[in-house]
Amino acid sequence: MWREIKIVESKDLDQVSALLDIEREAFGEKAWNLEMIKSEFQKHNNVILLLRNDQSEIGYVLMRRILDEGELLRIAIRPAFQKMGYGKYLLESLFKKAKSQRIRKIYLEVSEKNIGAVRLYQKVGFQKMGLRKHYYGLNESAYIMVYPLKEEEKDDQNSH
Ligand SMILES: CC(C)(COP(=O)(O)OP(=O)(O)OC[C@H]1O[C@@H](n2cnc3c(N)ncnc32)[C@H](O)[C@@H]1OP(=O)(O)O)[C@@H](O)C(=O)NCCC(=O)NCCS
Repeated sequence: MWREIKIVESKDLDQVSALLDIEREAFGEKAWNLEMIKSEFQKHNNVILLLRNDQSEIGYVLMRRILDEGELLRIAIRPAFQKMGYGKYLLESLFKKAKSQRIRKIYLEVSEKNIGAVRLYQKVGFQKMGLRKHYYGLNESAYIMVYPLKEEEKDDQNSH
């Protein structure tokens, strides 16, 4: 299975419907709608990586770049492919892309209740740096997390 998968960097509006399917499956009623996805495709400082095999889309990640910082806005893996390492693979691919754009840190906000996502982020190296109380509503706070790109990783890029 791993041999078949590939990452596509996408700003191609043909792929809006693929993202919409992933969104609906992964987020259910909290999914972004067509207009929201289209609007994210059109922002020049967004990076969208789509993970697919030769039969279907598996998941995607969206990061916004602001100067030398990134903000991870969304990651979703279709339920049939979850807990197989794809989320980790997608984030590691995003880190490589971020390095090539000279990004120094990637930030994100995640609900304290989204245990799967918090574990995934910690697993790939994000660190908790704060808690925004009631960020998602009265009983739902958000962790602020950061991934610092390592010095040697930045040097790697500079040497190319
Ligand atoms: C969060 C999400 C992206 C994880 O993707 P995934 O491909 O299933 O994650 P991986 O298989 O790469 O898991 C990597 C690590 O994360 C942790 N993890 C992932 N899902 C988990 C879950 N449901 N419960 C507990 N730990 C979990 C595990 O520690 C795992 O490492 P391990 O396999 O060595 O134990 C996926 O569950 C998803 O799309 N969820 C719905 C959308 C969402 O909530 N997105 C995040 C907010 S934008």
